[in-house]
Amino acid sequence: MSASFFANNDFMPHGMCYLWQPDILWTSVISDVLIAMAYFSITAAVVIFVKKRKDLPYPWFFLLVGSVVFLTCGTSHLVSAIVIWEPIYGISAIVKAITALASVATGIVIWFVLPFFLSLPSPAMLEKKNLALQDSLNKLNLAKLSLIEAEKMASLGGLVAGVAHEINTPLGISITAISHLMETTDELAKHFTINQISRKEFSRYIEEAKISTNLINVNLQRSADLVNNFKLVAVDQSNENLRLYQVKKYTNKILSSLQSVLKKKQCTLSLKCADDITLWGDPGVLTQIITNLVMNSITHAFENTNERNINIEITKKEQFLLLNYNDSGSGIKEEVQEKIFEPFFTTRRAKGNSGLGMHIVFNLVTQSLKGTIDCVSDLGNGAQFILKFPFDTRDSST
Ligand SMILES: Nc1ncnc2c1ncn2[C@@H]1O[C@H](COP(=O)(O)OP(=O)(O)OP(=O)(O)O)[C@@H](O)[C@H]1O
Ligand SMILES: [Mg+2]
Repeated sequence: MSASFFANNDFMPHGMCYLWQPDILWTSVISDVLIAMAYFSITAAVVIFVKKRKDLPYPWFFLLVGSVVFLTCGTSHLVSAIVIWEPIYGISAIVKAITALASVATGIVIWFVLPFFLSLPSPAMLEKKNLALQDSLNKLNLAKLSLIEAEKMASLGGLVAGVAHEINTPLGISITAISHLMETTDELAKHFTINQISRKEFSRYIEEAKISTNLINVNLQRSADLVNNFKLVAVDQSNENLRLYQVKKYTNKILSSLQSVLKKKQCTLSLKCADDITLWGDPGVLTQIITNLVMNSITHAFENTNERNINIEITKKEQFLLLNYNDSGSGIKEEVQEKIFEPFFTTRRAKGNSGLGMHIVFNLVTQSLKGTIDCVSDLGNGAQFILKFPFDTRDSST
């Protein structure tokens, strides 16, 4: 039997059964061929589908159903058409056996994968989920905005604390000087009432009065300067305050309000900027950018180094203003650089930082100033931020 399985000499083509009646014969043959073509087309479509949809669950199942079953079914129909003329019954039987195997396998496997396909969300369910996700995203965006506002207030709070600390010293010196002046004046007055002022005592009094008033003058002036600078910074932070301002003068004011933190960290800061650069805009934007960059250097850069310098260079280049900020600190790792402008990214979450500082800087540079900011840093060689924005002088010529 096995020797003659593929031998077809002993068989007749089964076209005999059709009695070669053309209408029956050709209806059957054409149908078989069409069915085979259709199945091959389905097979090709399924293979392309599985190949293109990399995310498809159970791709082998689709290949089993789509390719093997349809391919074998198609082939068996084709063989049925051939067998009418060529008695290849052995091949026909084998093709049928393969078709049977593939169909039975699919018939069994389908019951195992059915629960999974039943649990797949329908497009309508996905649509609903999408809407819910969109809703959460909107809520998150709102939360982000209010956190950014909170962060702005927090940096304002930091400035208040710094300025309060800075004002304390000159006010303390002024109080000591004026108490001393009051005491010596009282003493002089007492001696005056009893006509006992010597020339020597009076000239000593004048000397002391000069020293004290000078001290008071210098220190009250310093306090007034601090309050003025701070007033400027504080108002600019909360108001949209568009005006033409001198960049160097204004940046110096920002830096003087940061002086106490810089001093505490023993950090020197140099600013290079031409006196005549004026800019139209909200100077509060510059305050926030510089405050954040300086506070970041102080917080993150100088942990393991005694050389603590910050350089800020502001230059005009054609119609752009370039602000080059660099510190001599530890530098920034590449993986941190990649995420530095992302909201909530911080390497100091455990110490209470929120990771919004550089995101705010990025937003201010790109949205308010319509410019760009790049972070360049080699680990161990300090950090550098290059800001470039259109140089809007508006009515500087008038
Ligand atoms: N000058 C710098 N030197 C070294 N690392 C820096 C410097 N500036 C920023 N970084 C790194 O970038 C991260 C993100 O900075 P960002 O200002 O956004 O957040 P933060 O300072 O950690 O938190 P926040 O500003 O909200 O208090 C920091 O956590 C730090 O790792
Ligand atoms: Mg920061």
